[in-house]
Amino acid sequence: MKIGILGAGNVGKILGKGLVKAGYRVLISSQDPHHPKHFSWKQEIGESGDVTSFDEAAQFGEIMIAALPWSCLKDVLESIHPAYLKNKTVVDVSNAVHFDNGLRLLLDNTSAGEIVQELLPESQVVKTLNTVSDKIMIHPNFKEGSPVMFISGNDHTSKVHVRSLLKDLGWSTIVDLGDIRQSRLQESIMLACVISENQLQSPGSAFALLRN
Ligand SMILES: NC(=O)c1ccc[n+]([C@@H]2O[C@H](COP(=O)([O-])OP(=O)(O)OC[C@H]3O[C@@H](n4cnc5c(N)ncnc54)[C@H](OP(=O)(O)O)[C@@H]3O)[C@@H](O)[C@H]2O)c1
Repeated sequence: MKIGILGAGNVGKILGKGLVKAGYRVLISSQDPHHPKHFSWKQEIGESGDVTSFDEAAQFGEIMIAALPWSCLKDVLESIHPAYLKNKTVVDVSNAVHFDNGLRLLLDNTSAGEIVQELLPESQVVKTLNTVSDKIMIHPNFKEGSPVMFISGNDHTSKVHVRSLLKDLGWSTIVDLGDIRQSRLQESIMLACVISENQLQSPGSAFALLRN
């Protein structure tokens, strides 16, 4: 399967690498695909992936992943030819946060996931992976157990596809929270996780569900 990733930053590169290792073909994308900062990623990935423009990645991907800072996500989505994203699953991993006066969510009474779905009414947006740091997005490995990954979205089939993609990235405990409005929960969980990490001085943590 072909995956297009909007973004070639920390998340774009890590997910791109993980997906190539899992057997997918991947295009990640940047404002400047030929910039030397992408050379080592391209070299490591070889034939199964490349760095391209946003439009090219969107045209290529059967499933899309939006891995861009909140500050530019809307502009990038609006710059892409609408036909390239139409009827596609778009995974949103973004977090809209303020860093001034302590870490806070930027959005009230809505969420990044809901806004991405509003911006792409003809795509099926699935929120996931925003609750963990890029370093543990692929094959999370904790000696205390298996962390939980949440998904939310309006379309059942898209969530089935994303669940399968998450399994291929090494996630075994996946919980469907419901429709895209539940991305509010996921964005709050991210904040709670970052605050917990800071308080417990334990970077690279993730929440798990303890079961009897
Ligand atoms: N990093 C994490 O641990 C983590 C974890 C969970 C969720 N997230 C979320 O994932 C998203 C991506 O995070 P990241 O850490 O990968 O970000 P990042 O490393 O800063 O990646 C930035 C990407 O966005 C592009 N970009 C930056 N400004 C742009 C602009 N004005 N117009 C177009 N493209 C622009 C960059 O393009 P160029 O290549 O052209 O410079 C780069 O490809 C964010 O929403 C973040 O909240 C991050």
